[in-house]
Amino acid sequence: MQVISNPTQDEIKSAAKSIKNGHLVSFPTETVYGLGADATSEKAVGKIYVAKGRPRNHPVIVHISSRKLLENWAREIPEYAIRLGNAYWPGPMTLILKRNSRALNFITGGQESVGLRVPNHQVALALTREFEKLGGFGIAAPSANRFGSVSPTTARAVEEELGKFFGSEDLILDDGQCEIGVESSIIDCTQVNPVLLRPGAITKEMIEEVTGLKVSLKTDESEIRASGLLDSHYAPKAKVILGLSAQPGDGFIALDQILTPIGSIRLASPASIEDYARDLYGALRMGDQLGLNKIYVVEPEGPGLAIAIRDRLGKASWGTRS
Ligand code: TXA
Ligand code: MG
Repeated sequence: MQVISNPTQDEIKSAAKSIKNGHLVSFPTETVYGLGADATSEKAVGKIYVAKGRPRNHPVIVHISSRKLLENWAREIPEYAIRLGNAYWPGPMTLILKRNSRALNFITGGQESVGLRVPNHQVALALTREFEKLGGFGIAAPSANRFGSVSPTTARAVEEELGKFFGSEDLILDDGQCEIGVESSIIDCTQVNPVLLRPGAITKEMIEEVTGLKVSLKTDESEIRASGLLDSHYAPKAKVILGLSAQPGDGFIALDQILTPIGSIRLASPASIEDYARDLYGALRMGDQLGLNKIYVVEPEGPGLAIAIRDRLGKASWGTRS
C-alpha cells in the first residue's frame, strides 16, 4: 500500500487506473475518507468487504461525478430526486434510487435500490472523472474504516484502520482533514415522499425546501440491512458515554464553553457545531490511542448538523447500544 500526499492531476489519473485495474484506492471526500473500488467489478468490490470486515449483505454507495450520470445506475428517478441533485450535488448527500441492471447485488446488498452520491471534494471529483474517462461507471466507496468503527477523517486514520488489510498495489490519497467530518445525509427516494435515513449536513428542512414535500425520518440506517449484526456503529474501542460525569482519567468531549471535569482528559473543545462535526471522530480516535476505557461526550443541542452528531453519538455510545 502506498500513501500519496496532495496528489497531482497525474497521480489522480494513475489512481483512477489502479481502480480500473481492480485495486482499492482510499480517497478523501468532504465528509469522511472513502474506500474506493470499481463498482462494476464483483472482485474489486469484494476486496472492500474483506478490508472492512463488512457483512456481504450490506450495500455500498456508488460515487459518480455528475447528477447527469444517475441513469447509469438508477431507473424511474422521481422528479424530487432530480431537484435534490441539482440543489445539493456535488455535496454531502446520498440518494437511494431504484436500481437498474448495472447495479448488481454485490453493490446493493441484494436490494432493489442503489445509493448514489456526487462528492464535493476536488480529489474525489477528479478521481471519479478520470475513472469515467477510462470507461468506468462509478466508484463504490463506503467509509474507510473497519465495519462498526469510527469513520476516518484523515489519511492517517485510514492507514491505522485498514493499513494491514491493504494489498501492495492499493493506494491512499491524502488530502488532509475532511471538511465536514460526519457522513453524508442519506435520502431514500424510492417512496412517494423522501425519507431521511441518515442525518448529515443536508438537513430535513433543506430537503423540504427544495422538494416542497414532507420528509419523514427513519434515522436507524443500520436497521435496513444490518439490524442485530453489531452491538454498535461509529464506535471507538473506548466506551462512549453521553453526559458530563467524567471521572479522573476518562476522556471528555464537549463544546468549548463547557468546563472539563476535574482530572478528565479533554479530547476536543470545538467552538461551533461545524467544528464539533469536523473534530469528533478524530477525538474519539485519540481516546483509543491514549488507551482510555471511557469517553464522556456532551452532545450539542439544536438543529442542523447537531442532529447528525447526536445520531452518531447515539450509535457510538455504550449506554444506548441496541
Ligand atoms: O459520506 C459518506 O456517505 C461516505 C463517503 C465516503 O461518501 N460514505 C459512507 O458510506 O458513509 P458507508 O457505506 O459507510 O455508509 C453508507 C450507508 C450504509 O449504512 C448503507 O447501509 C447505506 O448507506 N446504503 C447504501 N446503499 C443503500 C441502499 N441501496 N439502500 C439503503 N441503504 C443503503
Ligand atoms: Mg460507514
